[in-house]
Amino acid sequence: MSDRINQGLEKAITYATANGCPPKIAEAIRYAIFPGGARIRPRLCLAIAGACGDANPHATNAAATAIELLHCASLIHDDMPCFDNAEIRRGKPTVHMAFSEPLALLTGDGLIVLAFETIARECVSSPHLIAPLITTISKAVGMPYGLVAGQAWESEPKIDLDQYHRAKTASLFTGAVSAGAISGGGDPLQWQGLGNALGAAYQIADDLYDYAGSSEKMGKPCGQDGTNNRPNSVEVYGIEGSLEQLAVKVDEAARCIPDCQGGDALRKLIRNEANRLVPEGLIDKTRTTSAA
Ligand code: IPE
Ligand code: IPE
Ligand code: MG
Ligand code: MG
Repeated sequence: MSDRINQGLEKAITYATANGCPPKIAEAIRYAIFPGGARIRPRLCLAIAGACGDANPHATNAAATAIELLHCASLIHDDMPCFDNAEIRRGKPTVHMAFSEPLALLTGDGLIVLAFETIARECVSSPHLIAPLITTISKAVGMPYGLVAGQAWESEPKIDLDQYHRAKTASLFTGAVSAGAISGGGDPLQWQGLGNALGAAYQIADDLYDYAGSSEKMGKPCGQDGTNNRPNSVEVYGIEGSLEQLAVKVDEAARCIPDCQGGDALRKLIRNEANRLVPEGLIDKTRTTSAA
């Protein structure tokens, strides 16, 4: 699975940084993508496509690549001084620290464009999928309910936590599973519940990590939500309440998996992710909470 993801990303970078590309942005593009993080969104996209029969593997690879490119772009922009002002990401200096703010802005922009270009280029053998994939993925990252909207809530005086989490994080998870279903030959509507629940779980876990995790282990600074005054799960539900919500969302995700080939493997992937998602220092609390 990771081969398909890495090869897709490598190919996209090769096109974007071909001879004649300004050298610094070429370097920044590679720096932002390799080595990666958990690659959870493209893995999810491939897993759902597989569960639906993987009818168009090229389109699946293109969708998974595009989704990870968009995610990497969102991290570059999210770390910039005008957003979260973070100096470390994936265990190394953020793109604006390593290359400059103008280059970080442009690298994020370049990756966003590259994502859609990749779908258009790689789906020549399945052109009927280009429009549905682009529509689904655009919705996940754009306006009015996608990632851009999620980040834009931070500029509003009043923020609803669920709406904020849904837009800034869950939308791309839902986009990843929907795109996987589309390219795999399945029905995206059957999979949206899984994307929504897993995306919600993921951001609750990220908030718990931000509060109780270690910067070293996460490869990014902790305590940012407090410093930047971001609404977050721990502030609204407390630690135990957030752990409970996390467990509820993970259960919901597992229950939302429709009958399909490899359903058990998919449930296992989600359980494994759920274990990875709880910060180590809170694992005992999870036991206490679920025993209560
Ligand atoms: C971080 O996403 C941003 C959130 C939406 C929580 P990931 O935790 O998936 O980041 P990487 O890709 O593994 O670095
Ligand atoms: C990330 O939200 C969501 C994005 C759209 C990038 P956060 O700001 O909470 O994520 P981290 O903790 O910086 O990865
Ligand atoms: Mg942020
Ligand atoms: Mg951030």
